[in-house]
Amino acid sequence: MKVLVVGGGGREHAIVRALARSPQSPELLCAPGNPGIAAEAELLPIAVTDVDALVAAARGAAVDLVVVGPEAPLVAGLVDALQAEGIAAFGPSAAAAQLEASKEHAKEVMGAAGVPTGGWSSVDSVDAGMAAIASYPAVLKYDGLAAGKGVVIAEDEATARATLEDFLVGQKFGTARVVIEEFLDGEELSLLALCDGVRAIPLAPAQDYKRIFDGDAGPNTGGMGSYSPVVGIDNAEATRIAALVHQPIVDELARRGTPFHGVLYAGLMLTADGPKVIEYNARFGDPETQAVLPRLQSDLLDLMLRASRPGGLEGAELEWTDAWAVTLVLAGAGYPERSASGDVIGGLDAAALAAVQVTHAGTALAPSGEVVTAGGRVLNVTALGDGPAAARSAAYSAAEHITFDGRQLRTDIAQRAVDRYEEPTA
Ligand code: AMP
Ligand code: GLY
Repeated sequence: MKVLVVGGGGREHAIVRALARSPQSPELLCAPGNPGIAAEAELLPIAVTDVDALVAAARGAAVDLVVVGPEAPLVAGLVDALQAEGIAAFGPSAAAAQLEASKEHAKEVMGAAGVPTGGWSSVDSVDAGMAAIASYPAVLKYDGLAAGKGVVIAEDEATARATLEDFLVGQKFGTARVVIEEFLDGEELSLLALCDGVRAIPLAPAQDYKRIFDGDAGPNTGGMGSYSPVVGIDNAEATRIAALVHQPIVDELARRGTPFHGVLYAGLMLTADGPKVIEYNARFGDPETQAVLPRLQSDLLDLMLRASRPGGLEGAELEWTDAWAVTLVLAGAGYPERSASGDVIGGLDAAALAAVQVTHAGTALAPSGEVVTAGGRVLNVTALGDGPAAARSAAYSAAEHITFDGRQLRTDIAQRAVDRYEEPTA
C-alpha cells in the first residue's frame, strides 16, 4: 500500500505519523513535506498547488491513495484531477470545497440545509458594509481564503470602517466581497467529521486557540494551540452535534450532485441557544489534527480509503484512547503579521527525548544542515497524558527545550480544560 500526502505543515506531519501507525504498513510519500516529515516519508519537491505535477507523481509512483492536507489544492481541483485518472483521493472535489473557499456560499448552503448559524449579509462596498452593521461587536469576513487572517471582530465603528477599507479598497487579499456576520457569544469547539459523500462520522472534539496572545488577546492566527477531548462533549454529544451541523451539509451537497468526501470541519460557537456554525473547512484543522490524531486507535488509512468511496464508511466505528492530548504551537517573531525565516532552531534533540511528538510546521534545512525557521508557525509539540494537567505540563516542559529567535508561545493552552476537568471516579 502506497500513500501520497500533499502538504508540508504540522497537520500533514501528524497525518503522516498516524498513517505510519497503520497495520497495513503503508509506504509513505509526501509533497513537498518538511524536514520533520522527511524522517517518516519520502519527500517529493512539488508545490501543493501544482496539480499536474502531483497527478503525474501519483500516477508515476502508482500510489493507492492521495491524502490532501491544505485547502488550496482542494479548491484548485486536485481531487477532481486525481479521480479523472482513476486515483483514489481523500478530500472533497473543488465544488464541494467551495464550502471553505467562499463564506457567502457556505452561508447559502447552511441556509438550504437548515444548519444553525448567525445572521449575515454580504457587501461589496464600504458604505453598504457600514449600513449592514446592526450592532457592535461586528464580525467582518473577507469572502475567500485568507489563512485564518481574513476575519476581524470590530468593537466600534472606526475599526469596522478601517477593516472594510482594508478588505475592499486596499484589497488586502485581492478583490472581494465581505460577509458581515452576527457576533456569536460563547465558547468555541472544533468538531471534525469523516465523510464519504453519504454520511458524516464525528472525530474526537477539540478546542483551538485562534488569537496570538494569552487570554485570547491580539489578532487571529491560523491557531496557536489545541487540545482534545473537550470537557462536556462526550461521544453522545458529539454525535448529536454532528447530526445537527455535519449530516445536513453532507445531505445537501449530495442533493446538489457535489458529494462531500474527506474531512468536514465545523468551527462552532457553543451559544446559550445551542451550537451555531461559525465556519466550515473542507479539511483537517491545524493545529487540531496534531491533538486529535494521536488519540485515534482505529486504522486511519482504512478510514481514509473508505471515505474516498461513495458510502464507504458504512458501519465504521472509531476508537479513541482515553488519554488527553495538548498541542502547543511555537511561532516565529512577528507572526501573524509576518513569517520568520532562517533563524536556527535549537533543542530539537532534547525535546525529542521527552515522550512528546514534535511536528514540524514551518521549518527548512539550511545548507549547513541546521534546521531553521521557514514560516509563521514553526513547530508543534504534542503531549499525551492521563488527564489534561499531565498532558499540558508534559507539552510545556518539552517545549522549553526548543529555542529560536523571537519564539512566540502562548502560556495558557488547555488551562481551561485543566480548570474544568474532574477526575473519573473509579
Ligand atoms: P473563521 O475564519 O470564520 O473561523 O473566524 C476566525 C475566528 O473569528 C473564529 O474562530 C472566532 O474566534 C472568530 N469569529 C468568527 N466569526 C464569529 C462570529 N460570528 N462571532 C464571534 N466570533 C467569531
Ligand atoms: N485551526 C483552524 C483551522 O485549521 O482552520
